[in-house]
Amino acid sequence: MIKKNLFLFILVTVLIACSQQKDPIEKKIDDLLAKMTLQEKIGQMNQLTGTGLSDDMKSQIKAGRVGSVLNEIDVKTVNELQRIAIENSRLGIPLIFGRDVIHGFKTIFPIPLGQAATWNTQIIEDCARISAIEATATGIRWNFGPMIDVSRDPRWGRIAESCGEDPYLTSVMGAAMIKGFQGEKLSDPTSMAACAKHFAGYSATEAGKDYNTTYIPELQLRDVYLPSFKAAVDAGAASFMCSFNDINGVPSSGNEYLNRQILRKEWKFDGVLVSDWGSIEQMINHGVCLDLKDAGKKAITAGVDMDMMGFAYIGHLEELVKSGAVTEKLINEAVRNVLRMKFRLDLFENPYTKVTFAMPFYTDEALQKAKQAAVESAILLKNGNSTLPLTDKIKSVAVIGPLSDAPADQLGTWSFDAEPQHSVTPLAAIRNYYGKQVKVIAEKGLAYSRDTNPLGIARAIAAARKADVILYFAGEEAILSGEAHCRADISLPGVQSELLSALKKTGKRVVLIVMAGRPLTIGKELTEADAVLYAFQGGTMAGPALADLIFGKAVPSGKLPVTFPRMVGQVPVYYAHKMTGRPAKNIVMIDDIPVGAQQTSLGNSSYHLDAGDSPLFPFGFGLSYTTFSYSDVKVSKNELSEGDSLNVECTIKNTGKFDGSEVAQLYIRDLVASLARPVRELKGFQKINLQVGETKTVTFTLKSNQLAFWNADMVKRAEPGEFQVWISTDSQSGKPVSFKYK
Ligand code: GLC
Repeated sequence: MIKKNLFLFILVTVLIACSQQKDPIEKKIDDLLAKMTLQEKIGQMNQLTGTGLSDDMKSQIKAGRVGSVLNEIDVKTVNELQRIAIENSRLGIPLIFGRDVIHGFKTIFPIPLGQAATWNTQIIEDCARISAIEATATGIRWNFGPMIDVSRDPRWGRIAESCGEDPYLTSVMGAAMIKGFQGEKLSDPTSMAACAKHFAGYSATEAGKDYNTTYIPELQLRDVYLPSFKAAVDAGAASFMCSFNDINGVPSSGNEYLNRQILRKEWKFDGVLVSDWGSIEQMINHGVCLDLKDAGKKAITAGVDMDMMGFAYIGHLEELVKSGAVTEKLINEAVRNVLRMKFRLDLFENPYTKVTFAMPFYTDEALQKAKQAAVESAILLKNGNSTLPLTDKIKSVAVIGPLSDAPADQLGTWSFDAEPQHSVTPLAAIRNYYGKQVKVIAEKGLAYSRDTNPLGIARAIAAARKADVILYFAGEEAILSGEAHCRADISLPGVQSELLSALKKTGKRVVLIVMAGRPLTIGKELTEADAVLYAFQGGTMAGPALADLIFGKAVPSGKLPVTFPRMVGQVPVYYAHKMTGRPAKNIVMIDDIPVGAQQTSLGNSSYHLDAGDSPLFPFGFGLSYTTFSYSDVKVSKNELSEGDSLNVECTIKNTGKFDGSEVAQLYIRDLVASLARPVRELKGFQKINLQVGETKTVTFTLKSNQLAFWNADMVKRAEPGEFQVWISTDSQSGKPVSFKYK
């Protein structure tokens, strides 16, 4: 008995000792919090946009009223503001400087929608790492990225910043970006805190109009819009950002269930939750808050730690605490999160940015990665008569179109710090590529994507007539996508389509290269062009990348991260749709309906009379210059039980004439469940390289928990029954193999 008591005593003593060995950072926070006045605490929750070394900024920092500054990118100014915080404020708490470094800082990589089209997480991590190295050199240690809103509406301008329509693809891409931004450890001076945004449901905005209301049943929120954010927590994202939208009437900045129940309690997130720009104050516009004081109270109650340019916290929290409307405990929790991030970034020990004479911008490695990412982000949508790659029989090319030589537009949205003079445009690259061998005839025709001047068309046609092949670079100016830039008509702007028709009439072969910030409805253009390469906006090195693809130094490997609709009226259209009770069958298109047809003569199933039921291109689609065959898809066992896994494998062969890369995609379908489930769900992918004639077996391990979904009882669980599984080249191809989950 004595031995047992002694053992218990020792065990309890050890446990108490361990619990008291608090994380050293938490101990430091405790000590600092104990010294801070209420005003100083609230100051840490206040984020202001940079105004250089203005007297107002300097005095606010000195008074301890600023926790973070965003959009200040002059390293000397950053260091001076930091010096004021460290030396002139009472407690010397360092500032943290933030910026949107969404797809590059100086070296610009493809827009995230294009990066997602690479289906190559390593290149995405590499691009993010380079972004961090460039940005931190100016003192930025907090990046407001990645944007991981699953986006299924191409009208929404911010689809350009997203990783597309799929929760799984967005999850793995977002995690790769976080890893690149944050590096091996946050305390490294080239690491910057990532910020998973916009939490949450922002992309479900009604009508694809930015900042609009969203209605998202919790089951859909859990199944579609939250997984990428949970993956961000698992990837160690240091911060999150609220979204502007209301979810079912509750704005995210005041959404206690979202921010406290899900993000903190369920996911155990201990990072910083920052509002979006003014999103706390905008709760007044939403009509859920009376005034700024009310908005401040709602936001702190809902768990928002920092107020980006809303002035609700700095203006009203002290009064709210003194009146008892808000407890100081809530303030302490928020400040603890802010201080924790600053300690983790080692800002207390190393607050200043080392000023180097040569900034680490546009290094050879950065430009090489930017080119590789642009190569892998381009998707070959059509290659009639193997028009591409152009062979060396070509004696002259006409380089036409508003995007052929548009150094700023090829960078895409959210490229604030880019320098277009560093862009290598398609025209410049083609000229470099060909040298004197081939005559390059350049005529933009249209000055910019929205140009409607018909005179340009005549010039372009005249140029085209002199060439063997026409390379037509069309698409969107950068300003036509991104925040607040939504379009109700997602066709080629201006008279670009008319120009293509005129080019086609010359009888020359036409290669259409589209550089845009979203999927465009290019069905008509698809019939007219001999080949179509979709390049989104490819960044600084878009030109050399496209030249390599057009002339065969590189082979297209991109796959669509988002469905391309035939018509905008099909939106929302995405691959992981439900079967419905009347799936489309016996489709009769509008022009085929007999005059006077009886009401029931067309059958009753789910499709549009003028668009059918299929998209222009499905999620996961992308051609190559070579071809691949898929065979022998098989599962390692026909029954799977909880906690178990099975292997799915298939043989892929390069059956064409070029070495190439292929993205093998793993999809499942739950055939019968307590809730209707999607016809397919992506659960894995592998990008493999195959030489001509080479065969490889790809194997995926499918775990039982990957079959789980949120059921009507709000429990995430896999249900017994039959499943189908595919390994295929896109979300509509392939033959399934069945297995049972017991
Ligand atoms: C914006 C954006 C957000 C960005 C923030 C700071 O309005 O919604 O994505 O990070 O402001 O620029």
